[in-house]
Amino acid sequence: MKLIFASENKGKLKEVLQIFSDTNFEIIALSEFGEIQEIIEDGETYYDNALIKAKFIFDLYGTPTIADDSGLSVEQLGGKPGVHSARFAGENCTFSDNNKKLKKELSVFPKPHNAKFISCALFYDGSKIISEIGELPGQIINEFRGSHGFGYDPIFVPDGFNTTLGEMSVEEKNKISHRAISFSKLKNKLIS
Ligand code: IMP
Repeated sequence: MKLIFASENKGKLKEVLQIFSDTNFEIIALSEFGEIQEIIEDGETYYDNALIKAKFIFDLYGTPTIADDSGLSVEQLGGKPGVHSARFAGENCTFSDNNKKLKKELSVFPKPHNAKFISCALFYDGSKIISEIGELPGQIINEFRGSHGFGYDPIFVPDGFNTTLGEMSVEEKNKISHRAISFSKLKNKLIS
């Protein structure tokens, strides 16, 4: 069965391809369809935004679609940046802009800066919606470490580890990550 992955984020795609590599599902990247209109993610929850993305792509191509909406929730910032993680530093900002802004906002607080990543993985085929949540607790650190992954990976150390997600290979990150948890659960539901 073909599944479109409704994301232009190459880091997410790499992770999801690996998670589904032991199944018969063929994951189709959005890039295969050329340029598409920007999807307005104006939901208030990860679930809302994952559904907006999956519905938008299903309505365009009529192929069962999976989507991920995810973000970082920082305790000392009352859960920010949350669903606004991608554009924390403003429209068209880079991952590096977001990381710098987060470090600046946290500089007035004592350590540790407890945080967690949250991912909502969602499947939509025009009638059925299946969704699953995954979480990864950890801490935000003051230095940037590692060049793997994307987003806040270089400043996030998962609980029980000494390395940042940015220092882990995709295989290592996929053993523990919020996205690996949400999509593994979704995958199992789709298989059963
Ligand atoms: P989305 O693509 O709208 O779901 O935005 C997710 C944003 O959350 C990303 O742009 C990152 O800023 C952040 N994020 C989510 N998952 C991860 C991760 O696994 N590593 C680092 N940052 C992440």
